[in-house]
Amino acid sequence: MNLDFHKIRRLPPYVFEEVNRIKARLRGQGIDIIDFGMGNPDMPTPKHIVDKLVETARDPKAGRYSMSRGIPGLRRAMAGYYGRRFGVQLDPETEVVATLGSKEGFANLAQALTAPGDVIVCPNPAYPIHAYGFIMAGGVIRHVPALSPEAYLSGVSRAVRHSAPPPSVLILSYPSNPTAQWVDLDFYREAVALARKHDLLVLSDIAYSEIYFEDNPPPSVLQIEGAKDIAVEVNSLSKTYAMAGWRVGMVVGNARICAALARVKSYLDYGNFTPVQVAATAALNGPQDCVAEIRATYKARRDVLVSAMGRAGWPIPAPPASMFAWAPLPEPYREAGSLLFAKLLMEEAHVAVAPGVGFGEYGEGFVRIGLVENEQRIRQAARNVKRFLSQADAILGRAQTALAAQ
Ligand SMILES: Cc1ncc(COP(=O)(O)O)c(C=O)c1O
Repeated sequence: MNLDFHKIRRLPPYVFEEVNRIKARLRGQGIDIIDFGMGNPDMPTPKHIVDKLVETARDPKAGRYSMSRGIPGLRRAMAGYYGRRFGVQLDPETEVVATLGSKEGFANLAQALTAPGDVIVCPNPAYPIHAYGFIMAGGVIRHVPALSPEAYLSGVSRAVRHSAPPPSVLILSYPSNPTAQWVDLDFYREAVALARKHDLLVLSDIAYSEIYFEDNPPPSVLQIEGAKDIAVEVNSLSKTYAMAGWRVGMVVGNARICAALARVKSYLDYGNFTPVQVAATAALNGPQDCVAEIRATYKARRDVLVSAMGRAGWPIPAPPASMFAWAPLPEPYREAGSLLFAKLLMEEAHVAVAPGVGFGEYGEGFVRIGLVENEQRIRQAARNVKRFLSQADAILGRAQTALAAQ
């Protein structure tokens, strides 16, 4: 199909599509694939949240258009969460916009802020909307290698010195998808100082704020004094409450940026279905033990993954946060590259992972493993991986023959 449109030419097909096609073919053959490929929470949304949705949906008025920037009660609940969790005070009228998931919020922020040719500093590897939201809005991406937060910040300084025009937006995203790294307040202090010095707006994506496995919860950039002058944060209920399909996110912080986003959204949407917003309000204002349970489930899976894969011969660093492990390719497959490795792992071991290169060129050499299968299936995957590693020579030999024949 000819998709030779200006914007579409700037959106390469998702690398993950290639892997997904193989997954669909194998599943079509009745093969059970253990699927760590996507970041799609597999646990149920807590019952009291679902109950609130059902109850509200029965209201005869429920089907009407809602409010594009979110009903006031939801915005107040979002501000309440920021006050409780981070000690950050937000005005629900001017400093909070409810979004249709954080992805929509991020993409429309890009629309709101970008003039054609504006330079945006973006981590690489990154969650794809971070770069492509701005590319769709006509921006130019300055990719900065982000294999560690420190490397990212020093790369940002270099990017600022060498970009013409100078960059206008700095993207931060910790805990990171895909690298699972997280940062402390010192990092944000430095990032905000850098952004202030160079007149950059800061967009910080903190979708995994509640999925952490160390004692200290991840901080918010808005905790830094003066951050609200230049920064907004994008957050989400998707992972915190296992509500990914409900599409509830938020953009909070700088009032001018929030107003710009609200203006764009007022042309595009009428807000989420009101009962979804009411249920999201109940999630934020209600009991939080469900969040601790969700976090504990991911942590238990992380521990099983790291130990079972380690015993199978694939050492994987334990992620401190997020719902992913960022795994270097195991020794015998190191030269294969992440895409071929992911394909072979799927075909031969029936385990799906996301190739690191799908998150940007600096993601090469790694795969992302989502903690979205239960512990028993993680152990099964490790048994399959053990066999896959022991047969590496034969598997790679067959792959080379097949490639040569193409
Ligand atoms: C870093 C990051 N930001 C945003 C999102 C999107 O979340 P939402 O469901 O809120 O759109 C994801 C989803 O995987 C993510 O990993």
